Amino acid sequence: MRLVLLGAPGSGKGTQASMLKKFLEIPHVSTGDLLRAAVKAGTALGLQAKAVMDAGDLVSDDIVLGMLEERVSQEDAKAGFILDGYPRNVAQCGALEALLERLGQPLDVAVKLEVPYELIVERIAGRAAAEGRIDDTPETVRARLRVYAEQTAPVADHFAEIGKLVIVDGVGELDDVFQRIVDALPA
Ligand code: AP5
Ligand code: MG
Repeated sequence: MRLVLLGAPGSGKGTQASMLKKFLEIPHVSTGDLLRAAVKAGTALGLQAKAVMDAGDLVSDDIVLGMLEERVSQEDAKAGFILDGYPRNVAQCGALEALLERLGQPLDVAVKLEVPYELIVERIAGRAAAEGRIDDTPETVRARLRVYAEQTAPVADHFAEIGKLVIVDGVGELDDVFQRIVDALPA
């Protein structure tokens, strides 16, 4: 199974991807996690990405695509993968399609988690207190939500147009949201 998880910052992509990873026995590929690892490791790429992430903007398409390609080309991704945080704009939709075509691994489905704005703000505030993620400050969260509305929301329209979008209610207990996703996956 090759699936993309879509949804606003704080909608639960990472949380659900780690549950799906165990259930489907395929890797969870998060471009945000890959970028945070590069920042932590202090690589040249990480240094470049850090300021952009701290501002809540999107890291350049080339950098992210390079990281993604490296990750999904690894052996454990041959059986499938859960993409979290990619694609994030319309150009990345095209890049993903071309990459997966090249690898001979077409996408099965895109699952969009829908969560109301107020709840998203509440969840991110909770995570800021619990984990201290550097981009979870109120100002950066506002920027990330704006970038999401302007650049990432059209990604769902793209998947709807090619008949691969399913929308799942992301509100409720973790297990309930998980079950809704599992029920929405193609056979
Ligand atoms: P990224 O890491 O992808 O962050 P994001 O999209 O903003 O999403 P989050 O990780 O904030 O939210 P999530 O949906 O994973 O929610 P979570 O499960 O944690 O990107 C970070 C940055 O990296 C970007 O701003 C950009 O700069 C860069 N970047 C990444 N990908 C890129 C790309 N493709 N191109 C360019 N730049 C890129 O849940 C949130 C909280 O809610 C948690 O505390 C969780 O415990 C809680 N929660 C989850 N589900 C529930 C529930 N059902 N009920 C109650 N609480 C819940
Ligand atoms: Mg996440």
